[in-house]
Amino acid sequence: MSQHNSASPVGVFDSGIGGLSVLQELRRELPHENFVYLADSGNAPYGERGDDFVKQRTLAIARYLQDEHHIKALVVACNTATTAAVAELRSAFPDLPVIGVEPALKPAASSSQTHRVGVIATRGTVQSARFEQLRQAFSDGTEFRSQPCDGLVRAIERSVEEDATTGPSITEIRQLCDRYTGALGSFGVRTGDIDTLVLGCTHYVFIKDELRQLIGPDVHIIDTGAPVARQTRRILVQRNTLADETGESAPAGGLHLYTTGRLSALQAAAERWLHLGPEHCSALPA
Ligand code: DGL
Repeated sequence: MSQHNSASPVGVFDSGIGGLSVLQELRRELPHENFVYLADSGNAPYGERGDDFVKQRTLAIARYLQDEHHIKALVVACNTATTAAVAELRSAFPDLPVIGVEPALKPAASSSQTHRVGVIATRGTVQSARFEQLRQAFSDGTEFRSQPCDGLVRAIERSVEEDATTGPSITEIRQLCDRYTGALGSFGVRTGDIDTLVLGCTHYVFIKDELRQLIGPDVHIIDTGAPVARQTRRILVQRNTLADETGESAPAGGLHLYTTGRLSALQAAAERWLHLGPEHCSALPA
């Protein structure tokens, strides 16, 4: 078992840069914590690679973060890895608190007025047994329509090093979003419309504007970053490992980011979404 205390970092990982959307919320909720983030971009997308591969990567990353960084908790900032591997992860690391991310079907069902909810996620998530379990648990009176979005994670990963409004990947992202939202049905607030869209993949938070253009201003878009951050706080309090938040001794939170993909892509994403300089990023072997 590794040694850790309240100054130890919280580990966060995703198949790539999508989990930075969760990290943004974690830093807002827990400004005094140290974080270490791992983007497994050299192996993304997970959602089109099958469960065995995702399990193997998830366990290897948890081992690395525990052994090299002595993390006190692990946030799996990836819906695909959570649905495929969270059970194995918890049994392989029984002393490590693990916080997963799942599509927010429950809040969507309780807030939808038309009782018709759209869910976009990776193929791995949509086809998982866990997703089916969630769907059944909350479908009383609510119709869920789900759409796997092949190609979208890859395009988002590629887009960070291009111009945010005119690059080739953003054009591809708009086309894919058009196809996938179109396949779900009509969006709006009238009877029969989908009035709530669940983002079941952490990468999609970064294309909210493109989605909004397609589904209109009145549709409620739900993601899970903020509730996951609050859950992480609860777990740290329970374990008595929350960083000191009071008075002058409260530390400023630190952050370092690692990638198994291209360093320049992580640096571009860190600058665009977290306003962090390149010195916060390092490369790791895939
Ligand atoms: N951000 C991951 C998720 O939430 C994307 C998985 C992938 O790489 O396909 O599912």
